[in-house]
Amino acid sequence: MSYDGVVKAKKLLSSKKYAGDAIEIAIKDVENNPSYTSVGYGGVPNEHGEVEMDAAFMNGDNFSIGAIAGIKDFENPICIAKALSKEKYNNFLIGAGAEEFAHINGFERKNMLSEKAKETWIKKKEEVAKTGLSAYDGHDTVCMVSLDSSNSMVVGTSTSGLFMKKKGRVGDSPIAGSGFYVDSNIGGAAATGLGEDITKSCISYEIVRLMEEGVTPQEACDTAIFKFTKKYKEKNHTEPRHISVVAMNNKGQWGAGTNLNGYTFVVATNSKEPTIYVADYIGGKTKINKKYGVVK
Ligand code: GLY
Repeated sequence: MSYDGVVKAKKLLSSKKYAGDAIEIAIKDVENNPSYTSVGYGGVPNEHGEVEMDAAFMNGDNFSIGAIAGIKDFENPICIAKALSKEKYNNFLIGAGAEEFAHINGFERKNMLSEKAKETWIKKKEEVAKTGLSAYDGHDTVCMVSLDSSNSMVVGTSTSGLFMKKKGRVGDSPIAGSGFYVDSNIGGAAATGLGEDITKSCISYEIVRLMEEGVTPQEACDTAIFKFTKKYKEKNHTEPRHISVVAMNNKGQWGAGTNLNGYTFVVATNSKEPTIYVADYIGGKTKINKKYGVVK
């Protein structure tokens, strides 16, 4: 879902623009696309049929963070999170407070429940009423790491969270250290998957910490996922649910990790046009394939 956004971001970065502007334009592209059912407009709603969104923006030059959770009826949560990161205090706002900040700062209001998402919600409600199935179904976050020509690094996330979530439920995406973390002197990481399990691992911070120790982004992703999986299994006798991550260090080397099969992500670098990869979890390691053909 992030391919078109990464194409736009690469254009900006190629003309020496700021990593934060590249993140913003790329994530905005995903938020504005109604075909993606887990981010922005078209995102599937909570159990009451409301699209409650979470987003975050972190600047790796000075550690400033803007994060919002449970915001409704605003078009581009990533832009609001970016604006919030410039404030000295009150950098993580929820619900009505996030909406008030967005309104005062002139952000566009929009009913974020698309007709298609409403239909999906009505169908699911009927299904849950009949079968008593768990309402939980479907989640995905757009999360990105960006490095620019001035060596600034930024990370961003945006999601509508779990389909049929409880009102007020917040996942990992706006939580620093879990959903995202970046230090321009080291690198950045961000996560997608089930927030309830991602937050137990503080995985984005852990990946950046491992990169600081000198391991490659790929090793850091694999180590963080597999160490956490082991600990989780020891305590719970079952695997954690879906956790996938992307990471890049301050030299532009990148990596990705996942505990499932078919995790899709996009990479663009100076020398590489935006390319879609698919990662699978095989024998305790992440195996990455180009969408067509093995590259690692
Ligand atoms: N990773 C998104 C969420 O669980 O809300």
